[in-house]
Amino acid sequence: GAAELGPYRHYMQKEIFEQPRVIGDTLEGVTGIMPELFGDGAYNVFKQIDRVLILACGTSYYSGLTAKYWIESVAKIPVNVEIASEYRYRDSVPHPNTLVVTISQSGETADTLAALKHARSLGMEHTLTICNVATSAMVRECKLAYITRAGVEVGVASTKAFTTQLAALFLLTLSLAQVNGRLTDEEEEQHLKAMRHLPVAISAVLALEPQIIAWSEDFARKENALFLGRGMHYPIALEGALKLKEISYIHAEAYPAGELKHGPLALVTEEMPVVTIAPNDALIEKLKSNMQEVRARGGQLYVFADVDSRITSGEGVHVIRLPEHYGLLSPILHVVSLQLLAYHSALARGTDVDKPRNLAKSVTVE
Ligand code: G6P
Repeated sequence: GAAELGPYRHYMQKEIFEQPRVIGDTLEGVTGIMPELFGDGAYNVFKQIDRVLILACGTSYYSGLTAKYWIESVAKIPVNVEIASEYRYRDSVPHPNTLVVTISQSGETADTLAALKHARSLGMEHTLTICNVATSAMVRECKLAYITRAGVEVGVASTKAFTTQLAALFLLTLSLAQVNGRLTDEEEEQHLKAMRHLPVAISAVLALEPQIIAWSEDFARKENALFLGRGMHYPIALEGALKLKEISYIHAEAYPAGELKHGPLALVTEEMPVVTIAPNDALIEKLKSNMQEVRARGGQLYVFADVDSRITSGEGVHVIRLPEHYGLLSPILHVVSLQLLAYHSALARGTDVDKPRNLAKSVTVE
């Protein structure tokens, strides 16, 4: 009801602003990295596996895609991420030493549950879930679990469930790295420190809301938008595009920026806003040349940079700067700005933000 909304107009907005707190809650009590964060017996499981298979749908699938970048780079374990409804029906090659990870806000998504059962029927017994509902079917069905503490999420478009999943998946990355001999005590301490700082860092992104509102007025008049990211920010571009289409009904697509010239560049005109996620990482110079390709066709760039990105506003280039560069955890900050952009664009278009047409919060039938 209205009382629960407090100062917010929609649950989605409230849930976006709850993220500093629920990320803190999700990491509460984590004083060190250890497999047992995921349940008794996790050490033995992590010791036996030599690959990871992530199964999920929707927004949860995108947190899985982000985790692939983390796990392969930090823990050095190969990862496959599959859309549950595809995996359950395709002929795949099973491998018994696989850690099967399902990701689900509700823990009741029919395709994800069926994909888990399918994996098990193929002889893969090491199962772990990242889930927001402790009493759900998914948690009952998996041997290991990490329960995110996003709290009840009402808005159909997932926000706080996604960022808490990412926090849990980063813990999984570090735990796998540790068992795999890839995490020194010093690195562990640095990562824990960065994680503890997340609530403050996210609050600083939320404070950019007025600048994002100014952009959303342009977006509300568009029918198409392109989102670009590279590396671990490519899944964040996908999630940003999903948020925008779900609630504002603006057609949005996301591409890894290096793929621009293989198709989407044909769509770029003066009418096309191109949202670019531009943290100051190893790919920034490559990304800048992708941005020039867009500008050369008249495309309007809306760039989420960070303090050190060295990208300046100018003709057709709008820049919002995130207050800090956050290394491996940067996807968790960048997605918050995209959630706000989608929310305010939808608000400006007058859509039913919390209950977008044709969509359900939880898809419990196929
Ligand atoms: C629906 C929701 C999405 C969600 C997806 C997967 O499509 O609208 O927000 O990401 O289901 O749900 P799950 O509960 O498994 O994360």
